[in-house]
Amino acid sequence: MNIGIIGFGGMGKTHAYAIDNLKYFYSPVGFEARVLGVCCGHYENAVSACETYGFEKAYKNEDELIGDPEIDVVDICTPNCFHYETLKKAIAAGKHIYCEKPLCVTASQADEIAALAREKGLICAVVFNTRFLLPVMKAKELCEAGRIGEVVSFAGRFLHSSAHDPEKKAGWKQNRDICGGGVLFDLGSHTIDLIRWICGEFSSVSGLSQIAYPTRIGMNGEKWQTNADEAFYMTATLENGACGTIAVGKIMGGTNDDHSFEVYGTRGTLAFDLMQPNYLRFYDGTKPESERGFTSVECCGRYPAPSGVFPGVKAPVGWLRGHVGSMYNFLRCVNEGEIPKPSFDDAAAVQRIMEAAYASAKSGVRVEI
Ligand SMILES: NC(=O)c1ccc[n+]([C@@H]2O[C@H](COP(=O)([O-])OP(=O)(O)OC[C@H]3O[C@@H](n4cnc5c(N)ncnc54)[C@H](O)[C@@H]3O)[C@@H](O)[C@H]2O)c1
Repeated sequence: MNIGIIGFGGMGKTHAYAIDNLKYFYSPVGFEARVLGVCCGHYENAVSACETYGFEKAYKNEDELIGDPEIDVVDICTPNCFHYETLKKAIAAGKHIYCEKPLCVTASQADEIAALAREKGLICAVVFNTRFLLPVMKAKELCEAGRIGEVVSFAGRFLHSSAHDPEKKAGWKQNRDICGGGVLFDLGSHTIDLIRWICGEFSSVSGLSQIAYPTRIGMNGEKWQTNADEAFYMTATLENGACGTIAVGKIMGGTNDDHSFEVYGTRGTLAFDLMQPNYLRFYDGTKPESERGFTSVECCGRYPAPSGVFPGVKAPVGWLRGHVGSMYNFLRCVNEGEIPKPSFDDAAAVQRIMEAAYASAKSGVRVEI
C-alpha cells in the first residue's frame, strides 16, 4: 500500500512513524505499507520532509497527491476546516482514507462524507487512537463480558494545560475559523468516542462552554479575541439509561495529557488514566466484602497476536522511548567526541558490585566494594 500524507505537522509525523514501525510491532504484518509521499501547506516543507524521512515524492498540493495513481491510501492530517473538501476529493478519486479527528466541522458534512464513503465501498477510518491503548481495550472487553454489569454512570475528562498561560500565543486549535470548534472538537471528540464505544449510544446532552482568557496574542502576533471554547463541560444521557459527565479543557494548570474515565456499573467500576497507561483499575463489586477495592489490571504491552513479540508483553508503555533516548545520547557523543554517560567506567562499577554480591552470597559474609 502506498500512502500519501496530507499535512505533515505533529500528526503527519505521528502517522508516518506508525507506518514505518509496523514491522517492529507486528510479526508478521501481513501486508506491505509505506509512505510514498507527503504534501504540506508549503511545498518546501514537503521537500524537506522527503529529505529528512526518506519519502519518495513531495507533492505540490493535495490535488497532485490525490491524483497520483500510485497512491492507494490518503492520510489526512491537516487542520480540521480543510478535512471536508479533501475528503470529498479523495473519495471521488476512489482512495481509501485515514482521517484525523474531528472528521469534519459540522455533523451534516460528516454524515455526507460517511454516506459517500459507504456508497463507494471505500475503506475509511477516523483516528480515534485512544481506543487502541491496552487499558482502554481491556475496559471494553470487561464491560462487554458483563464484569461491571449494566452501565449506570460515567465520567470522562481530557485535560491539558496548553492554554493555561494567557500570555501564550493562540494556535489554530484555539481559532474557531480553522478548528471549527474549540477544545470540544480537539479533545472532547476523543472522550465522547470512548464513552460511546464502551458505554453505549448517546441520547441527549447538555453543554456549558467556557472561554477563560478572552484575549490573547493571535497567530499573527497581534492582539486577538479568543473565539473557541477553552473548556467544555457536558452532562449526557445514554440510550441504555446511563447518565454521566464529560469535561475537557486546555486551561487546567499542571495537567499534561490527562485523559481519564470511570465507568460505573451495577456490579463494578472501571477506571482509566492515560497518565498511568500501563494499568486499568477495576473494582469488582461481586467479590466478598472483605476482598473488595480497586485492583490494577496490568496491561503493559499485552497486545494480541500478531503483536506482542516485540517489544515483550511486559514492556511498559514508554520503555522503547528510553532506548531511543539512550541511542541518541550515544550517537550524539560519537558525533561530538564526548565520553558518554553511562560509560564503560559506569558499566565496570556495576560489574564490580555484582561480582561482590555473588561473592557475598557464596561466602555468607558482607563484601566491601
Ligand atoms: N489523534 C490525535 O491524537 C490528534 C492529536 C493532535 C491533532 N490531531 C488532529 O490532527 C489534525 C492535524 O493536527 P496537527 O496537530 O498535526 O496540526 P499541525 O498544525 O501540527 O499540522 C498541520 C499540518 O497541515 C499542513 N497544512 C495546512 N493546510 C494544508 C493544506 N491545505 N494542504 C496540505 N497541508 C496543509 C500544515 O502545513 C501542517 O504541516 C487535526 O485534525 C487535529 O485535530 C489528532
